[in-house]
Amino acid sequence: MSGIVVVGAQWGDEGKGKLVDVFAEKADMVVRYQGGANAGHTLVVNGEKTVLHLVPSGILRPDTTCVIASGVVIDVFGIRDEINKLKKSNLLMNPRQLLISDTATIILPYHKALDAARENALSPEEKIGTTGKGIGPAYEDRASRRAVLFGDIFDQQTLKAKLELALTEKNHMLANFYKGPTFKVEDLMKDLLALAEELAPYRLKDCSLFISKSLKAGKRVMFEGAQGTMLDILHGTYPFVTSSSTLSSNACTSAGIGPTNISKVIGVFKAYTTRVGGGPFPTELNDEIGNKIQTDGHEFGSTTGRARRCGWLDLVALKYAIRVNGITNLAMMKLDVLTGHERIGVCTAYKLNGEILTDLPTSPYELEKVEPVIEWIPGWKEDLTKVKTLLDLPRPTTNFIDYVGSQLGTPIDVISVGPGREQTLWVKPLFNN
Ligand code: GDP
Ligand code: IMO
Ligand code: MG
Repeated sequence: MSGIVVVGAQWGDEGKGKLVDVFAEKADMVVRYQGGANAGHTLVVNGEKTVLHLVPSGILRPDTTCVIASGVVIDVFGIRDEINKLKKSNLLMNPRQLLISDTATIILPYHKALDAARENALSPEEKIGTTGKGIGPAYEDRASRRAVLFGDIFDQQTLKAKLELALTEKNHMLANFYKGPTFKVEDLMKDLLALAEELAPYRLKDCSLFISKSLKAGKRVMFEGAQGTMLDILHGTYPFVTSSSTLSSNACTSAGIGPTNISKVIGVFKAYTTRVGGGPFPTELNDEIGNKIQTDGHEFGSTTGRARRCGWLDLVALKYAIRVNGITNLAMMKLDVLTGHERIGVCTAYKLNGEILTDLPTSPYELEKVEPVIEWIPGWKEDLTKVKTLLDLPRPTTNFIDYVGSQLGTPIDVISVGPGREQTLWVKPLFNN
């Protein structure tokens, strides 16, 4: 059992990309398991920044194989551009370092047009604030059995038949209901057939077989989640969620392996909370403290550039994430960003209609109304970004980590104090060997 899942424990952008890149040093394989180019995973190595949307965050390690599993929705034009960008930086020189499952769903321009049209049609209160990357419409096609799969772009006849079926319906909806742009089968066919030649070297016909064999051979496989627990389609703050299951269990479903292959689930969280887009956010700070966190943490989206909403750490939501993902170990990211606050807030419960809640309410409408109960922890002034070991952390910082760890009842194995690969304080190694 050498499968390890890395899952976002909040509303996304927790620092999953950085963590996966750090761990990938010891991994044979990194498998991205859901979402699409709505994700933006940032890696910083020797001061150089790489933002990945679809390519797994193990790609900067030439000996680590990266797999895009069947549960991902792939913007095929987007991934071509991402691959070319990596190649320009002398990365991904061996095409077999990146393998794309033939049975993954692809995102085409009409999915993006529908995503945008649907958002435009909503009132300001109803807007989800999607990334506009076509994620919802692509997963809808998968569920309604109309999806074009990655393998289909290599089979002209199937591709044409699927596009004809899809566009008859989509063009009707786009033109008549949304008064938006329409698409032609011939144009898409032309673009996709040219693209198929470029993407052929990355084909992985049987994702499940490949990953299963690797696990059986004792390879160390990491499964990289996108988005975060609270954006999960079933267990997130519905309808203000993404359209896939972001939870650790989906790593198995997407890759086509059984849960007995997973030995650890690492929950990644920021030492505070952020959220992009609409929806409830109990600890949100609409004041200068929130602005300070946003500025100090550079909290602007890696995919859309939108400002991220900021607030204190929410232990009620984190405990929920630990429960629904079966998180065994935690990684606390962006601790350095909390420098310079006299006191740091941590939400330990919610108040709703005079009642104290310690479990997350399942109704998003109730979650919208809760008031956070805040415990105050003394802050610190020291810059943490140059700290090399846990022993060098200021006493109040250690107290903060200990407080959070004891409240969560789950070990915090990694502390991150900056975006760089080297700005990582290890508490425990990830892999046993
Ligand atoms: P992801 O989507 O979970 O991979 O996270 P993003 O890459 O979207 O957002 C995290 C941002 O925080 C990126 O800009 C990272 O470079 C940065 N980051 C990650 N860890 C740390 C940290 O410990 N401290 C600071 N200051 N920045 C970090
Ligand atoms: P990473 O992997 C943060 C949010 C959007 C919106 C909602 C639905 O970088 O953590 P979608 O385009 O998926 O239909 O949008 O989900 N969202 C994210 N927020 N990080 C992400 O990914 C996100 N991917 C989607 O802002 O509220
Ligand atoms: Mg991100």
